[in-house]
Amino acid sequence: MSNIVASQSIHEQYGGVVPELASRAHIQYIVQVVDAALQKAGYDVRDLSAIAFTQSPGLIGSLLVGAQFAKSVALSLDLPLIAVHHMQAHVLANLIDDPKPEFPFLCLTISGGHTQIVLAESPARMRVIGETIDDAAGEAFDKTAKLLGLPYPGGPLIDKYAADGKSDRFHFPEPRIPELDFSFSGLKTSILYFLQENLAKDPNFVNDNISDICASVQQRIISILLNKLTKASEQTGIKNICIAGGVSANKGLRKALEELGKHNSWNVFIPKFEYCTDNAAMIAVTAYYKFLLGDFAPLSVSASARAEWD
Ligand code: KG4
Ligand code: ZN
Repeated sequence: MSNIVASQSIHEQYGGVVPELASRAHIQYIVQVVDAALQKAGYDVRDLSAIAFTQSPGLIGSLLVGAQFAKSVALSLDLPLIAVHHMQAHVLANLIDDPKPEFPFLCLTISGGHTQIVLAESPARMRVIGETIDDAAGEAFDKTAKLLGLPYPGGPLIDKYAADGKSDRFHFPEPRIPELDFSFSGLKTSILYFLQENLAKDPNFVNDNISDICASVQQRIISILLNKLTKASEQTGIKNICIAGGVSANKGLRKALEELGKHNSWNVFIPKFEYCTDNAAMIAVTAYYKFLLGDFAPLSVSASARAEWD
């Protein structure tokens, strides 16, 4: 009913998220964000039936602020507490709006820290059937942007420049990785050498070709992702296909997935932009399904930086 996001622009000047600053910003904004969410939804805290929070994985300082705050509110209002897994929540962002995918479905879950193909059998049963062996897809975007001298986070900017570029202008290799796993570190190295070589010949190379470079790199990242997704669909026979996570906001990827879906007779589900990058609604929808199952956390629960899937 409301999905309030307090974006932290402070990190831009450092070229990445500074954990200490992120934790402090969480402390500074959490009360006003919760207030704004309740106000927008038109509810009082006493109307709530449970309190959910992100338990893992992520930056531990920020997670601890959310966990302690949620536990305090749950304790003071005598409400059940629901601990949510951040990556499962990205997957279930696909269940926020209608039409919803039927189970089982495959979800390509791509963010700044993760690149996974998830087989979801129910809201509570999910398996990772493929994942990156090195960098995440979001890192591939952000590291490319850094090499091009663009500010952090670079994914949205590459997306923007790519819209005006020719994606077949420059060639970057597609790695050969077994099964359903991914790799993006080779791509980063090839972009580095490509730029060094061309900048040695022409110092204005990046400026003069930014759109074509972004389009070509983005096209390769998309083909790496969609080729594995196709393989996963062939192996499992599942044709309900979803995407999730910050990188699924990429316009080129959304368009390419829709076209591929038509070609393969898939039922494709793509969350609204605001449910792709990190958001509160995906935590709430996951909590809703956990609430129905009575899957509550004890007050002794704490946050953790890393987490295994159930
Ligand atoms: O899911 P998310 O918001 O946060 C994490 O849980 O990591 O994902 C952030 C990642 C960043 O790497 C960012 O560059 C990337 O998502 N991203 C994009 C786009 N919007 C966000 N990458 C490509 N194209 C976009 N439009
Ligand atoms: Zn995320």
